[in-house]
Amino acid sequence: RPKACIFDLDGVIVDTAKYHYLAWKRLAKELGFEFTEKDNERLKGVSRMESLEILLSVGGIKIEDQKLKEQLSDKKNNWYVEYISQMTKDEILPGVEEFLRKLKNAGIKIAIGSASKNTMTILRRIELVDLFDSIIDGTKITKAKPDPEVFLKAAEELNVDPKDCCVFEDAVAGIEAAKRAGMKVIGVGDHEILKDADRVITSFVGHGIELVEF
Ligand code: BG6
Ligand code: MG
Repeated sequence: RPKACIFDLDGVIVDTAKYHYLAWKRLAKELGFEFTEKDNERLKGVSRMESLEILLSVGGIKIEDQKLKEQLSDKKNNWYVEYISQMTKDEILPGVEEFLRKLKNAGIKIAIGSASKNTMTILRRIELVDLFDSIIDGTKITKAKPDPEVFLKAAEELNVDPKDCCVFEDAVAGIEAAKRAGMKVIGVGDHEILKDADRVITSFVGHGIELVEF
């Protein structure tokens, strides 16, 4: 049984992945191309700036001007922040809060390991800030997933060995990051897409701590 579980935020705790997608799709449309759900898989877990690079490559657009790139990513973020500004506890994904409490009751530490710089805004909106023993987000890391930095930092802050940690992820990049950190990883979502995870669930509903027993 792990001593700690580290949760990605977007697409695992809360369904913000759909808002990220909506905002990127809107930007693509403004730039004159369609951005599909399939293309979007590559953006999951990836930092804001790297997401923009991938988006531009999908649209076949080359931009050298760093200022312009920042303007575009700011534009996307402003839309995204607008989408999440009205979020409530209702948008916590089914079964998640119950599952987090089961882990805590079993003495397993819990942390957030997210690339998002909007992490605290979201956690405040869904009123889960106090539940986590550690929160490592996009403001505390320099290397984006699939680099393991975010998860290693969480383990360090929790004072738990990486091998005693289990990560929950909805993104391919996040699963790779967890593996590179030497942690167990449970995918949340599609079995086909998340095939490199140790285990995959489609939802947290009904799961107890046996889920993290390997
Ligand atoms: C990740 C999301 O959690 O955070 C990505 O899966 C997102 O889609 C990344 O790009 C960075 O988020 P933010 O909120 O800092 O733009
Ligand atoms: Mg995610």
